[in-house]
Amino acid sequence: MQQTGSPDDWWRSAVIYQVYPRSFADSNGDGVGDLPGIARRLPALKRLGVDAVWLSPFYTSPQKDAGYDVADYCDVDPLFGTLADFDHLRAESRELGLRLLIDLVPNHTSSAHAWFQEALAAGPGSPERERYLFRPGRGEAGELPPNNWDSVFGGPAWTRITEADGTPGPWYLHLFDASQPDLDWTNPWVHERFRDILRFWLDRGIDGFRVDVAHGLVKVPGLPDYTPSPGGSMGGDTSDAPYWAQDGVHEIYREWHEVLTEYGPDRVLVAEAWVNPLSKLANWVRPDEMQQAFNFGYLETPWAAGPLRSVVDASLAAFGAVGAPSTWVLSNHDVIRHATRLALTPPPPQGAGIGPRTQPRPDTAVGLQRARAATAFMLALPGSAYLFQGEELGLPEAIDLPDSARQDPTFFRTGGELYGRDGCRVPIPWEAGSPASGFSPSGKSWLPQPADWPEYARDAQDGVPGSTLEFYRAALALRAEHGLGAGAIEWLEFGGPDVVAFRNAGVTVVANTGAGQVTLPEGRVALTSEPLADDRVLPGDTTVWLVA
Ligand code: GLC
Repeated sequence: MQQTGSPDDWWRSAVIYQVYPRSFADSNGDGVGDLPGIARRLPALKRLGVDAVWLSPFYTSPQKDAGYDVADYCDVDPLFGTLADFDHLRAESRELGLRLLIDLVPNHTSSAHAWFQEALAAGPGSPERERYLFRPGRGEAGELPPNNWDSVFGGPAWTRITEADGTPGPWYLHLFDASQPDLDWTNPWVHERFRDILRFWLDRGIDGFRVDVAHGLVKVPGLPDYTPSPGGSMGGDTSDAPYWAQDGVHEIYREWHEVLTEYGPDRVLVAEAWVNPLSKLANWVRPDEMQQAFNFGYLETPWAAGPLRSVVDASLAAFGAVGAPSTWVLSNHDVIRHATRLALTPPPPQGAGIGPRTQPRPDTAVGLQRARAATAFMLALPGSAYLFQGEELGLPEAIDLPDSARQDPTFFRTGGELYGRDGCRVPIPWEAGSPASGFSPSGKSWLPQPADWPEYARDAQDGVPGSTLEFYRAALALRAEHGLGAGAIEWLEFGGPDVVAFRNAGVTVVANTGAGQVTLPEGRVALTSEPLADDRVLPGDTTVWLVA
């Protein structure tokens, strides 16, 4: 079902690079990355060989959840710059031929958003209150939350308000932090506002949106109590929770699809939807809804031949059945970087993070070797792949962040029991000898960079054979040259239970997920995730691409 060839279909095979604005490049020295910093560093991404950039939120925000708490969807937070800086960044990316996606956060606003402040001020029974999910409490005096739901970040999903006259009021729902009240998507007013927001950014020339929590907008009417099945959790993606993956969300995306179509056939919506199984997730990418959905089933698959082959088959079948490309992703701003995660067995649950007290410590060398092998496997698959800033440098998770530096609401809402996601969000290194390794001219960094960050700096790897950066560049160039993103795979039975091998567009890909050595089949080695001592022998935790 895969169709490619038209520039309108660029996203079917694109490699999309996630920029996390606060940690990418700081131009003004305040220790937080910004839009001018990104614009200046775009040529490095062009050189890397990606097709598009996705920016995590840079909107006006109190930054309680690193910008996923939006106080104005149509403006830039002064921390990151101005709308003019955004326009400049857009122009620069266009000049370089890089598509640009931005983040849209429709499940909740910030509590600082005017919509919520107006709802508080307008009082009970007002239309403003109907923008959000205010409900009376249970118990004799409404002193108990309206239901038993927990926030994804820990603690109850409800916070009680105090009315203007000082009396205790109703509670509002927040699936995430208390500073992130959920919108009521049964209210047509909310639909209208978001259509306006889509148009605001499409008018500024963006290519599409990554849609945050795209499985959460609609809740079961009546907001019933929920008991996760054994082994499940309230925030888990396998659950039958009354707030995840409700059928009603699809109507919203059909509506948005129409808005995007007004701007041309090449605009895209990408679902961040933690939905299992993949066959259900495929509903998000039916022809009249979104174009892509992140494949978290793939991200969560261990580095092991059998599970990898199964998840690839299941992905191609599920997305292919609705005419959508599969996507592939190994790292993002919510998970432990794969250069560390692949050395953890089993990895902690998504969002939990790791830190100084985690035992045993992951082996950095093993993690990096597996990460490069896993990336070589991923980039050879047909479909669209996502990269997270810094993975092309081989960055590991920053484990030893002091508690005092941590900022993820998960850390605070669990009383420090879970470290959360800060370890993958540390500002990235550019030049080994510069302040903050080139991240910021002042040397400041909103999260402290580990002492060995200079070793990973881009300039320390540039032109160095065998470096992770050169490996990524080579993989991306070969992927484009052979059209692997638009290809189709044929499995090869080869090498035993730890080996997963396939052919795509004339390239033979062999990944050895075990520790033993494997004799390679015929072919010239075009790419290898680690230097090979012998061209015919594939060591453990290594992937090669062979051509005729
Ligand atoms: C998504 C984002 C995550 C954020 C959450 C709430 O999962 O990727 O970073 O905390 O939504 O907006």
